[in-house]
Amino acid sequence: MIGIAGTDEKLEMLKSKFGFDAGINYNTTENMVAAIKEAAPNGVDIYFDNVGGSISDAVLFSINKFARMVICGAISAYNNTELPKGLSVQPFLVKNSALMQGFIVSNYAEKFPEAMKQLSEWLAEDKLTYTETVVEGFDNIPTAFIDLFEGKNTGKMIVKI
Ligand SMILES: NC(=O)c1ccc[n+]([C@@H]2O[C@H](COP(=O)([O-])OP(=O)(O)OC[C@H]3O[C@@H](n4cnc5c(N)ncnc54)[C@H](OP(=O)(O)O)[C@@H]3O)[C@@H](O)[C@H]2O)c1
Repeated sequence: MIGIAGTDEKLEMLKSKFGFDAGINYNTTENMVAAIKEAAPNGVDIYFDNVGGSISDAVLFSINKFARMVICGAISAYNNTELPKGLSVQPFLVKNSALMQGFIVSNYAEKFPEAMKQLSEWLAEDKLTYTETVVEGFDNIPTAFIDLFEGKNTGKMIVKI
């Protein structure tokens, strides 16, 4: 399992706390295509995409046959003022018979009670690992939100009111 993040501290946490095998710092890596190929010499079967843009484009060069790409978010694109010019994904999907699907968590709203119960149990049993970045005060909500785009949080961003 390989994680991509913006600081070496976050990569260290991915490995030491969350069980990732390797990490790539996208801010200090010049050639993401080569770095992903090096980290995943056998290719990528599953890509969980939170960011979109050039990082996700680079992953496409390493996908395996029947790869699955879960499109959770595209934070690199949220502040774009023009339509981004990225790779065309179709040739990669066709060549690899790969699947790309987005989702919104509310699609599964009817399963929230079941999820809350299961996640609470896993938390109580120490089977779920998480980190939080807690910011104090209602007035800091805008700053906390903007900080997400600069990677200032290391865990789930929480504003304590
Ligand atoms: N599908 C859904 O239902 C759903 C629901 C909630 C959230 N989301 C999406 O899931 C993703 C993660 O959300 P979260 O709330 O858990 O946030 P998060 O991952 O805790 O924080 C956002 C992180 O994104 C990274 N980032 C910021 N700008 C970036 C860029 N231009 N390129 C690459 N990475 C960048 C930063 O880390 P670095 O230091 O690594 O840059 C930052 O810490 C977001 O895309 C969000 O929109 C989807």
